[in-house]
Amino acid sequence: ASPELAATIDSLIRDVPDFPKPGVVFKDISLLLDDHAAFTAVVQALADAGRDDSGATVVDKVVGMEARGFILAAPVALALGVGFVPVRKPGKLPRATYAVSYALEYGEETLEMHADALAPGERVLLVDDVLATGGTAAATAELVTKGGGTAHALSVLLELSFLDGRAALDGLPLTALRTI
Ligand code: PRP
Repeated sequence: ASPELAATIDSLIRDVPDFPKPGVVFKDISLLLDDHAAFTAVVQALADAGRDDSGATVVDKVVGMEARGFILAAPVALALGVGFVPVRKPGKLPRATYAVSYALEYGEETLEMHADALAPGERVLLVDDVLATGGTAAATAELVTKGGGTAHALSVLLELSFLDGRAALDGLPLTALRTI
């Protein structure tokens, strides 16, 4: 992100200690979403990962991860002029799905994507708000592959580098507007 956008993002993200559980510092982006100019600039910057140097769109779909990823990924899809595909928590999608499970610190999470969401060979930009451990993004990239697509890149607002999510991405190019 440009220094101006980085400063705007920093000023509109709030740290909320001990949410949703003790010891976790939650990154609240709701003030940023509430600001039209900032939200617009963030969407454009996230979308740049799906464009070439001339500004042409080089992806066929944008995939967003439930739930906060949807808020950013859907307008990114519109900005790029392509369709949006939701990756959801289990049991939410009504038709045939692919599922990928991954380990959490305690327990397991599963994500699903409609089996027919992607046409063979489609290039996909993944968009989420935060990259933490990378479990969500890695599982989503796997769903894209299962669905017959190719993961082109991952674009996030915020990378929590101390959790080393980048290492879980298996070389998928990452754009983070802010890294802390
Ligand atoms: C958050 C965030 C990312 C994910 C990042 O979602 O929106 O999707 O965690 O964490 P990871 O890199 O360790 O996988 P959360 O599971 O809190 O869901 P929500 O958006 O529905 O609140």
